[in-house]
Amino acid sequence: MKTTNLESYLEERRQLVQEALRGCLPPADSYPSAIHQAMHYSLFAGGKRLRPILVLAAGEAMGSRPEPLLPAACAVELIHTYSLIHDDLPAMDNDDYRRGRPTCHRVYGEAMALLAGDALLTQSFAVLSRAPAGIPAERVLRATEELAVAAGSQGLIGGQVVDMEAEGQAATIATVDYIHSHKTGSLIRACLRLGGILGGAGEEQLDLLTRYGEALGLAFQITDDILDITGDLSRMGKEGGVDVARGKATYPACLGLAASRQKAGELCREAEDCARALGPAAAPLVLLAGFVLKRQE
Ligand code: IPE
Ligand code: IPE
Ligand code: MG
Ligand code: MG
Ligand code: MG
Repeated sequence: MKTTNLESYLEERRQLVQEALRGCLPPADSYPSAIHQAMHYSLFAGGKRLRPILVLAAGEAMGSRPEPLLPAACAVELIHTYSLIHDDLPAMDNDDYRRGRPTCHRVYGEAMALLAGDALLTQSFAVLSRAPAGIPAERVLRATEELAVAAGSQGLIGGQVVDMEAEGQAATIATVDYIHSHKTGSLIRACLRLGGILGGAGEEQLDLLTRYGEALGLAFQITDDILDITGDLSRMGKEGGVDVARGKATYPACLGLAASRQKAGELCREAEDCARALGPAAAPLVLLAGFVLKRQE
C-alpha cells in the first residue's frame, strides 16, 4: 500500500465500520425510545473511528479480511463512546461539547446519559459475542476477556479514577503515564490485540501488536493533551483549554509542549518499527502511526 493511500484506506474502513455500527443498536424509535435516541445521538455524532479501524488493520496484518473483524471493531467503538459520554458528565470533566454537538447529558439529561453509557457498554459484549463465520469460538472467548479487562478497573476505568484523583495536584510523570496508558492506552492496546487474536496471530506477532498498541495509545493521549492547548471547538468538535482550567495531570503540564511533542514522535516511531517488523500486510498500521502523530482533530 502506498503512502498516498492512507486517506482511501481510512475512508473505506470508516464506511465498513459505519454500516456495521448501524446494525449494533435497536432503532432510535424503538421503545423505550429516550434511551435509544441518546445512544444513537452519541454513537452517530461523527468521531474518527480510529479504534475500530485499528482492530481491522491489526487483523488484516495477520492476513484476515476486514469483514469478520467488524463485530470486534464495533464492540470497541461502543465502549469508547460510552466512555466519552461518562467522561463528559458534570461529575467527571463536565464538558458541553463532544463530536461537534452538545454533550449527551446536555441534550438528554444526566440520568439518561448515564444509562445510555451503560447500555452501550453492555451492548458491546452482545455484539462481540456474535462469533462471525470462520472465526473459531475460542478466539472470540479470548477476545471477550481481553476487552473486559481492558475496559475495567485495571484498565480504562482505573485510568479515569487516577485522572480524577490527580486533578488539581502536582502530578509526577509516572502518575501521568499511569493515567494515559490506562484511560486511553488500555483500549487502544486491546484494539491491536483483538485484531491479532481474531486474525490468528502467533505469540511473536501478538507481542509486536501489543507493543505497537502501547506506544500508539500513549502517543494518542499525549496528542490529545497537546490539542487541548493548541486546538479549538471548530476543529476538534470539543472545547479546548479545559485541561489547564481544571488542573488536569497532562503531559504538557508536566513536561511542556516541546518535550511532549518530542515524546509523541518517539512513541509513534516505535509503533512504526513494530508494524514494519510485522511485514507488508501491516502497511496500514505504519501509516496509522503517522496519522496519530499529525492529527489535528
Ligand atoms: C477522545 O478520543 C478521548 C480520548 C481518549 C483522548 P478520540 O479523539 O478518538 O474521539 P473521537 O472518537 O474521534 O470522537
Ligand atoms: C478521556 O480522556 C479518556 C476516556 C474517555 C476514557 P480526556 O478526558 O482527556 O478526553 P477528552 O479530551 O475529554 O476527549
Ligand atoms: Mg477525562
Ligand atoms: Mg474529558
Ligand atoms: Mg483530553
